[in-house]
Amino acid sequence: MKSQLSKLGEIALSEIMGADTPELLESLRVKYLGKKGELTAILRQMSGLSAEERPIIGTLANNLREKIEAAIEENRAAINAAVLQKKLRSEALDVTMPATEPIIGVRHPMSIVVDEIKDIFIGMGFRIYDGPEIEMSTYNFDRLNTPATHPAREWTDTFYLDNESKTLLRTHTSPMQARVMETVSPPIRAAVFGRCYRKDEVDATHSPMFHQMEGLVIDEGITFADLKTLLHDMAVAMYGENTATRFRPHHFPFTEPSCEMDVLCHECGGKGCRVCKGEGWIELLGAGVCNPRILEMSGIDPEKYSGWAFGMGLERAAMRRFKISDLRLMFDNDIRFLEMFK
Ligand code: PHE
Repeated sequence: MKSQLSKLGEIALSEIMGADTPELLESLRVKYLGKKGELTAILRQMSGLSAEERPIIGTLANNLREKIEAAIEENRAAINAAVLQKKLRSEALDVTMPATEPIIGVRHPMSIVVDEIKDIFIGMGFRIYDGPEIEMSTYNFDRLNTPATHPAREWTDTFYLDNESKTLLRTHTSPMQARVMETVSPPIRAAVFGRCYRKDEVDATHSPMFHQMEGLVIDEGITFADLKTLLHDMAVAMYGENTATRFRPHHFPFTEPSCEMDVLCHECGGKGCRVCKGEGWIELLGAGVCNPRILEMSGIDPEKYSGWAFGMGLERAAMRRFKISDLRLMFDNDIRFLEMFK
């Protein structure tokens, strides 16, 4: 029995000291000292010993139990320290390491221009409104006096979102004329900025997604002269003192009379070039005096109030402002182009 004990002790101690995880250590404790453990099994056989042998073996067995317990405690402390060390090492934050430089973006030329134009209009007492890009045909067309047969309503021109042509991606910011008129009572000075969509092929001056600004003024005694003055002042604020503008008659179902305003070509100064397609002038916006039917449909008395509205393509404004000759550069997301606006 003596040799049985010393053999057990040897194996147990070497196994315990070799354990390297808390789980393994615990299973060894159960293996040797547990109720069904190996040392316990030996001690159970002690009843068969003679009276002289019993205390000797008993002492040996107790000593061994203490040794095993001590070894377990010793190794448990070592394992815990090692686990802690490993954790500290993997979670260490070395503040002396060189930092990774954060990549800070720049504002897109479109955002720059939109903010500049917003400033001009806020300075003139306008309020900025946001409108939905997913719009109802009612607001995009009907409430703007656009007849059911108008070519702009064709599936080939407009992105409809349902088979009944009830919802669409707005083709201009003008539906906000009706939305503002029915919620705000005059005097109204509204400016709306946002994306619009048309089924256009992409080229140097066209994109199926583009930005517009809508301006709307409704008050007593508003005339076409107010519109002309404000639009010319806006062009000067945007492009500088010597900016030349010209007004051409046009047709829109929601304004009467209607016009388009051009600015002198920034590229050639009026001689005619690729940018202005030989015209010498670049079309900037459509405008006009609000058709009384629009006011009426939106619950504003056209006998008492009059107003004007205009819609401006912002891509062209930005291209002129930064002398960009190809619209596609604005949406290609080429970092080299965008970094020019740092
Ligand atoms: N919505 C018109 C367009 O997209 C522009 C416009 C707006 C014209 C307001 C007159 C008044 O072409």
